[in-house]
Amino acid sequence: MNTTIENLLNNQIKYEAQASMQYLAMASWADAKGYNGVADFFYSQSEEERVHMTKLVKFVNERSGNVIIPALDVPKASYDGLNELFEQFLKSEMFVTEQINHVIYECLQHKDYNVHNFMQWYVTEQLEEEAMARTLLDKLNIIGNDKSGHYLFDRDINAIAAAQENE
Ligand code: FEO
Repeated sequence: MNTTIENLLNNQIKYEAQASMQYLAMASWADAKGYNGVADFFYSQSEEERVHMTKLVKFVNERSGNVIIPALDVPKASYDGLNELFEQFLKSEMFVTEQINHVIYECLQHKDYNVHNFMQWYVTEQLEEEAMARTLLDKLNIIGNDKSGHYLFDRDINAIAAAQENE
């Protein structure tokens, strides 16, 4: 495997792992605040990111590349409220999308069509996750600081997420 591509895939392993830990910290924050629906949503997002990470680890190994399991930064653990939490969620997904686009670009530069093909799954996944983060943040922006709105958002978030996934 081309060294540049191998390094980029290892970076991507770190970004997915970091997102998984970030979402676990978000789930824990929501859990402690009594937002059980939001907590479930982020526990599940955290699992998904772990799957994204593991898929990359297995792929690099299959291609006889050298996998580096990275040390991670301590995730942000406290938030002003749901709006900040979901702003962070969207920011994190946009960052991951940018990195994936960069991997795709480099694959084309190095004519690595195998990795390019493998990365298409991530492109589709990111489209869905970014759309989800935007939808949820839009709803929170409508709700503003209304407490009963937040109560309903927490109650309905997993139904909203499921509906978005089936679109
Ligand atoms: Fe796997 Fe949402 O980044």
